[in-house]
Amino acid sequence: MTLWLLGANGLVGSALKASINCLASGREVDIGKLDDLRAFARKFPGITGIVNAAAFTNVNGAETHREEAFLANVVGPENLGIIAQEIGAKVLHISSDYVFPGDGNIPLKEGDPTGPCNYYGYTKLEGERRLLAAYPDSAILRVSWIFGSGGKNFVSQLLHNLRTQQELQVVFDQWSRYTYAPDLALVILQLLGHSGVYHFANEGVATKYEFALAMREEAEKLGMHIVTDKIIPVPSAQFPSPCKRPIYTPLDTTKIEKALSLKIRPWQEALQDYLEALIV
Ligand SMILES: NC(=O)c1ccc[n+]([C@@H]2O[C@H](COP(=O)([O-])OP(=O)(O)OC[C@H]3O[C@@H](n4cnc5c(N)ncnc54)[C@H](OP(=O)(O)O)[C@@H]3O)[C@@H](O)[C@H]2O)c1
Repeated sequence: MTLWLLGANGLVGSALKASINCLASGREVDIGKLDDLRAFARKFPGITGIVNAAAFTNVNGAETHREEAFLANVVGPENLGIIAQEIGAKVLHISSDYVFPGDGNIPLKEGDPTGPCNYYGYTKLEGERRLLAAYPDSAILRVSWIFGSGGKNFVSQLLHNLRTQQELQVVFDQWSRYTYAPDLALVILQLLGHSGVYHFANEGVATKYEFALAMREEAEKLGMHIVTDKIIPVPSAQFPSPCKRPIYTPLDTTKIEKALSLKIRPWQEALQDYLEALIV
């Protein structure tokens, strides 16, 4: 299979690039511009699979940069569907737990009612719809709270803070499932060729506060220099945000586990791998 990876320089894109030989494109191929995509597909004939890891991912920024977010997250997947149809390639598009309102207390299945609570979530949901309308055979993989070594994310920032700040305040009232980018990369490669909506994340529901405690413990075990001696649980309201965030979005992963005969490992194990990879 000749694979084209969009968003190759992002967090997920970097993990994928490390896992497989592929044609990779970054910002220079603007997913919001159909002509850019067509030109790339013409330049590299024979593409049989497309993975879309490109997106506007700044949740707060999406509130104020609506046009940019819409182009990347809504028009982008629709464009991809059109191109994939034209060249006869399989598509896998990455979406988000933010398509859900996050006001419940039961893990979310693929068919559960959506209803985003902010503009980023709205664009991710509309992107799913437009892609499926343009190319119904596409696969959509919703994930949550990704961490890994490429790009900036809550987890890399947390580690930096643990190494530099004596006291940390971490949110305790939002629940989801962490997703380790290298684990996700392997699942993406297995899922490409399937169609429909799937959920993936590492096993186990956690808050950011619980994750911070586990990271400190694990980092200290590995001999990393940690200076934080106090991790204080705080409500999310403590950090004012321009938009609402979903409170509870653990994804139910039963469907993908069955489809791919997967045994998903817990986030604690993935966290250990993440930290070990940093010290070798
Ligand atoms: N990170 C998470 O916790 C999380 C959670 C749930 C779902 N997701 C989804 O997972 C996917 C991958 O996210 P990620 O964490 O890897 O994000 P990321 O690190 O921000 O990577 C996204 C990449 O897309 C590029 N990009 C943005 N607009 C583009 C455009 N118009 N055309 C081409 N490329 C463009 C970005 O380039 P620049 O850096 O130059 O802007 C960046 O390299 C996204 O669909 C995201 O919605 C992420």
